[in-house]
Order: sequence, then C-alpha cells, then structure tokens
Amino acid sequence: MVVLEAMHLKKHYGTASNLIKALDGVNLTVKRGEFVAIEGTSGSGKSTLLNLIGGLDVPTEGAVVINGCELSKLSDDHLTVFRRTNIGFIFQDYNLIPTLNVYENVILPVELDHGKIDEDYLISILEMLDLHVKQTKLINQLSGGQQQRVAIARALATKPAIILADEPTGNLDSKTSSTVLELLRLSNQRYKQTLIMITHNPDIAKLADRIIRIEDGKIV
Ligand SMILES: Nc1ncnc2c1ncn2[C@@H]1O[C@H](COP(=O)(O)OP(=O)(O)O)[C@@H](O)[C@H]1O
Ligand SMILES: [Mg+2]
Repeated sequence: MVVLEAMHLKKHYGTASNLIKALDGVNLTVKRGEFVAIEGTSGSGKSTLLNLIGGLDVPTEGAVVINGCELSKLSDDHLTVFRRTNIGFIFQDYNLIPTLNVYENVILPVELDHGKIDEDYLISILEMLDLHVKQTKLINQLSGGQQQRVAIARALATKPAIILADEPTGNLDSKTSSTVLELLRLSNQRYKQTLIMITHNPDIAKLADRIIRIEDGKIV
C-alpha cells in the first residue's frame, strides 16, 4: 500500500538570472512501513525534499499525496491538522518550545488535537530515550543531545503514520545514536510506520529498506 507519492516535485528559488533549483523534478513512491534513507552532499536538496513531503513548504511545481490526500488541495488549517495527525517531524534544529518542560513538549502535538495521551506508551518512549528522569526539566537545562532526544519523543508521541527525520542522530554520540535508531526502527516495525530519514551515516543507511541519493536536486 502506497502511503506517500511525490510527483515531479520542483522547488526553485530566485529569479531567472539567478535561479536556484533546490529540487528539480523528483518522483518518489513510498510504501506503508518502509524505511527510506536519503543521502546526498550538503546543499543537494535533502531538507527541501523532506519539507515538501511534510507540507512545511510549497513546491514550485508538482504534487505530494499522502494517504490519498493531495496536500495542495488542503486549506492552511486543514493542512496543519493533517500534518499533526499523520506526520512526525524530527528537525535538525529540534524546534522545541523553551518555556515548556520535557514532558509538556512531548505531549504537545497530542494535546493540540485533544487526543488521549497513552501514558504507558509515552513512558516507554521516555525510558528508551533515557529522558524519564528529565521530564520536568526545561529545554534550556538540557544538552544538545538531550534536546534531540526530546524532539524524537515528540515526533513519536502521536504514533504518526509517517516519520520524517532530518539527520536525527547528527548531534548524538554513537551509543545514544544506536539507541535512537533502535527505537525508530522498533516503532517503524511495531506500528508499521513509514520512516524517511536523511542521514550521512552509512551504518544507518545500511539498515534502511531503500537508500535514495540526491544530487543537485535530482534523485540519482
Ligand atoms: N529559502 C531558500 N532560499 C534560497 N535558496 C535556498 C533556500 N533554501 C534552500 N536553498 C538552497 O537550495 C539548495 C538545497 O538546500 P537544502 O535542501 O537545504 O540542502 P541539504 O539539506 O541537502 O543540505 C541549496 O543550494 C540551498 O542553498
Ligand atoms: Mg539539510
């Protein structure tokens, strides 16, 4: 079953004399439960692709269809809710809320949709990410690696159909990195979640069902 379809995606910046083709005609079909790793050098268009797939950015051309729903057809409000209920994002720069503590950050996407919080599930995530004892800490009391793990817990909290991760282990030491990866893989298998992950780490990419490589805005 196809969960995601990107059709002829383009994202161009600038004007004719100085045109940047961040993404230049990408086609991608991803099945439910698939783990896809995205590789490519810096500036090749990886983050642009992830942002378009997740509806955080609008393509210059082309379309993204998730669970049969074409993102461009949704109003802004519907898109926000659709994103929150279907997609878990793990950003490079975390995007956590500094005035909330760890627990509050993690449950925020569930609360925003008035969902029921699965406490047992949440505790198991926090324990696996070694955040259990940090639940009441504010974000600025945490190290970069700890913040990264909070971002991961938050992305998993809603049990989304698709997880989009932009170098989720980039700031973690190798031990935490394998724990995080194990958790994402477990979640991917247990909930048949689709996992699309940008990574520079060949060991991580090896675990994926499929590796796609981007160069100059194109899949090669
Ligand atoms: N908002 C923007 N305005 C202009 N150029 C951009 C913008 N965002 C990204 N780019 C350019 O698009 C290309 C791809 O960027 P990006 O997707 O962030 O690459 P990657 O994540 O692979 O490092 C780069 O050349 C980058 O400079
Ligand atoms: Mg990037």
